[in-house]
Amino acid sequence: LALVERPRDLDGVSIVVSAGGTREPIDPVRYLGNRSSGRQGVAIARAAADRGARVTLVAAHLDADVRPDPRVEVIAAGTAEELGRAMDATAPDADVIVMAAAVADYSVAAVAQDKLRKQDSPGGLTLELVENRDIVAGLVAGRRVGQTVVAFAAETVADDDELRERARAKAARKGVDLLAANAVGWTQGFESADNALTIVGRDGEVVATASGSKDDTAHALLDAIVAVRAVSAD
Ligand code: CTP
Ligand code: CA
Repeated sequence: LALVERPRDLDGVSIVVSAGGTREPIDPVRYLGNRSSGRQGVAIARAAADRGARVTLVAAHLDADVRPDPRVEVIAAGTAEELGRAMDATAPDADVIVMAAAVADYSVAAVAQDKLRKQDSPGGLTLELVENRDIVAGLVAGRRVGQTVVAFAAETVADDDELRERARAKAARKGVDLLAANAVGWTQGFESADNALTIVGRDGEVVATASGSKDDTAHALLDAIVAVRAVSAD
């Protein structure tokens, strides 16, 4: 086991990280979910604690083997709306916000109070979905001086060029300080200990690429965060 000495360059910094996948209820026993394990966000929270930060983890659904570090304060959030409320409550005190959670874009318009029965929808069922609010856009709009907001994007792309282009466009659209993009697919990106990130800045320039364990990519993202904060403090 190699012990890597990590810099204590986040001493006194408060960071809020969201992680995992939200679940949007359909009825009391069913939900719409996604394949996010929470592994990358939990690794970022742990890495930030290693570097001296005070860390809050806003945790949507995490896989059972993904356990937050005991130094991290955990706030559980089931749905996108709950996650949004937890971010709104914690963001004002945060120096850094990292939205690593996979937030549902839509929720079910009318959640059934009783379990749906097949006999009530013979032959097929149409669910009406309504768009959820964009949490990170709200955080950017409410950003105070000195606060750093970071988004993630998991994209199905043909190659690295397309991933960079998507990341560039999304960073600009969201107005975030940094956006970390990774490629995903049927057999890529999930249930894995490893990851590969392309990190772009405000103007869409690639500031770093990193691959390796999710701990390694977490530290690479924190390096990029420390670097943008040093520039904006000049
Ligand atoms: N996000 C958010 N609120 C939402 C949806 C997404 O805050 N309702 C955040 C995610 O946590 C992530 C970033 O926005 O940090 C980008 O998410 P992504 O799904 O890639 O972007 P969208 O704007 O939802 O665009 P699309 O899914 O159409 O690609
Ligand atoms: Ca989305």
